[in-house]
Amino acid sequence: MFDSVGDVARKQQTLFMWILWAAVLVFIVVEGVLIYVVMKFRRRPQDRIPRQVHGNRNLEIAWTIAPIIVLAVVAVPTISTLIDLAAPAPEDALHIRVIGHQWWWEFVYPDQDLIIANEVHIPVGRPISMTLESADVIHSFWIPKIVGKVDMIPNRINKLPTFIVPEEAPGIYFGQCAELCGTAHALMKFRVTAQSDGDFQNWIENQKTPSEVPITDPERIGHDLFNGQGLCLTCHTVRGTTAQGKIGPDLTHFGSRSTLGAALLPNTSEHLTQWLEDPEDLKPGNIMARDAAIYIDPNLRLDSEEIESLVSYLKSLK
Ligand code: CUA
Repeated sequence: MFDSVGDVARKQQTLFMWILWAAVLVFIVVEGVLIYVVMKFRRRPQDRIPRQVHGNRNLEIAWTIAPIIVLAVVAVPTISTLIDLAAPAPEDALHIRVIGHQWWWEFVYPDQDLIIANEVHIPVGRPISMTLESADVIHSFWIPKIVGKVDMIPNRINKLPTFIVPEEAPGIYFGQCAELCGTAHALMKFRVTAQSDGDFQNWIENQKTPSEVPITDPERIGHDLFNGQGLCLTCHTVRGTTAQGKIGPDLTHFGSRSTLGAALLPNTSEHLTQWLEDPEDLKPGNIMARDAAIYIDPNLRLDSEEIESLVSYLKSLK
């Protein structure tokens, strides 16, 4: 967060540094005077009780005015930054709804009619306007380099300051939930891919197309398992198939993601196998393990052949 990218993060960092140095100054003055007084006026063996005084108008005026000045130094830039960052989004902004779940992220592109999970893509050089919601408990949305945290509160829509990733700073940015929201709070991460407008439009087109029909045998078996066993399709959607569950992340183009388990691990066949063997082990408390456990405690009880087919199928969903 000290390596800020873009206007919003820079303004937030400037404000943070301003308040930090004001606090450091107060700390040094207060502690300095305290240490000086303790040393200079400490009691020595021959000392008697000193003269007792009560009330000092000048001192009281001084220690009323000094904090007013300090608070003004902090309040003026704080309020002006708050007003600045609350400005409404411009007309050409890209709107994204973010919904926090225990413990993953749902991203909805209303104008593009697209829902994805955990890996959000945005174009550089264009204002991004995000609204924040929660499906369960309080979460907090945070992209440390790009924009400071804002709470996601159930039954309420919060707004993130409208930000732009500069054209010269495309790349992958890390995001993290910043509000203790349960067992796997620390593992509630996401990724932001900031890319050129052309790449972004291509990505949108690819994500909007329904999933491809499985080609190889293992893929076909995995597809049938996914859609037939009354397990995966209960919670997950893969557009273009019968799987239309809305409880867990949309997996239509799961194979095109670089991570799994909400940016927990690289999306490799090995990690996906581990995940299907025992999701509880990789991400304690996660709803996939928990809800499946209602029926088949404690993991999904898939045999290694079934897992292998599911992995081939899921990896084929580019
Ligand atoms: Cu969601 Cu912490």
